[in-house]
Amino acid sequence: MKILVTGGSGFIGSALIHHILEEEGEHEVINLDKLTYAAAPGNLSDVEALPAYRFEQADICDATAMKRIFRDHEPDAVMHLAAESHVDRSIDGPAAFMETNILGTYHLLEAALDFYRGLKGEKREHFRFHHVSTDEVFGSLGHDGVFKETTPYAPRSPYSASKASSDHLAAAWHHTFGLPVVTSNCSNNYGPRQFPEKLVPLMIISALHGRPLPVYGKGENVRDWLFVDDHASALFTIARKGRLGETYLVGGRAERSNLEVVKTLCAILDDMLPDSPHRPHEGLITFVEDRPGHDLRYAIDPSKTETELDWSPSVGFEEGLRRTVSWYLDNEDWWRPLMDERYHGERLGLGTGGKQ
Ligand code: NAD
Ligand code: TYD
Repeated sequence: MKILVTGGSGFIGSALIHHILEEEGEHEVINLDKLTYAAAPGNLSDVEALPAYRFEQADICDATAMKRIFRDHEPDAVMHLAAESHVDRSIDGPAAFMETNILGTYHLLEAALDFYRGLKGEKREHFRFHHVSTDEVFGSLGHDGVFKETTPYAPRSPYSASKASSDHLAAAWHHTFGLPVVTSNCSNNYGPRQFPEKLVPLMIISALHGRPLPVYGKGENVRDWLFVDDHASALFTIARKGRLGETYLVGGRAERSNLEVVKTLCAILDDMLPDSPHRPHEGLITFVEDRPGHDLRYAIDPSKTETELDWSPSVGFEEGLRRTVSWYLDNEDWWRPLMDERYHGERLGLGTGGKQ
């Protein structure tokens, strides 16, 4: 299969491309990425030279470029991951989220539809557009209950509202225009190559420096965590086997409060760095002002994806966190330039600036 992956230079996109090229055999990947701040250089350095890999630097908001890329590469499938992805940044400056996540998805759907309408025979029969989204579109759970495919949409942050909009657009292009779309919504990912603005890498890197570990509010908010390689395997399964017009939820049945996550990371660091002057790392935990509109709890029921598509995660949460900490300890040359040049570990998302 020839697969057009959007956002392939980011955290999940690069895990997906590694998964496809290294574990799934004979496939070709075209990575379409604008290379925003979130695309860390080197995310794909070990696959870039493969003949099965090609790269197009482009913005999904650029309708002309999208049409040209479909024409030039004639993909069998699209896996659409390109997005602005950080909730805190969406509070400080929502504009880029509206542009990329909503308008960009619209332009990509239009280009895909235009291309699909020109296809014939088997190529047309097998073509599919996999829209990749988040469980945050369902809003916030209380202490009980889980998200299912049938849960009504109730997004509450600019990020989740923009992703919900993109999900609705993908569904509309399926129902109205017949574009063969399948959608997936996944819980919080963690693992190697996650940009250091997100909880897990920020805590690891801050702890290494002996800096405070800023836990929002009381640390009671709950996320349902999935190791990124397990999301990659789910995505490739859904792209190939998911039924058109359907939604699949992906998660690892690993609910943890933020405080539990940070404490577990600290214990792993204590264990891996017996000579660190910052042990016990838990002493660095600092409770800070809460995120505005902070969703209390997310939890996924992944039964449909597990039973219908025979997918299940392979890495448990504590094991996945150990692998993640190890990766950040071994790959300072990946994160150090990002922290020097793009993001210095400062607090984001208090929404006080009102800037775009
Ligand atoms: P990321 O921020 O690490 O990467 C996003 C990538 O998209 C970057 O390489 C960036 O350069 C690219 N991009 C951004 N704007 C673009 C544009 N206008 N045109 C082309 N490329 C553009 O994000 P991620 O964490 O890898 O998330 C990937 C997808 O998965 C997103 O759609 C996100 O909503 C979804 N998702 C993420 C999580 C998570 O926990 N990170 C969970 C569920 C779903
Ligand atoms: P994040 O990684 O930003 O993902 P999301 O907001 O998409 O769930 O945050 C995960 C959780 O961790 C979320 O409840 C906010 C919280 N958090 C902190 O407590 N401190 C931090 O410094 C960050 C970045 C997040």
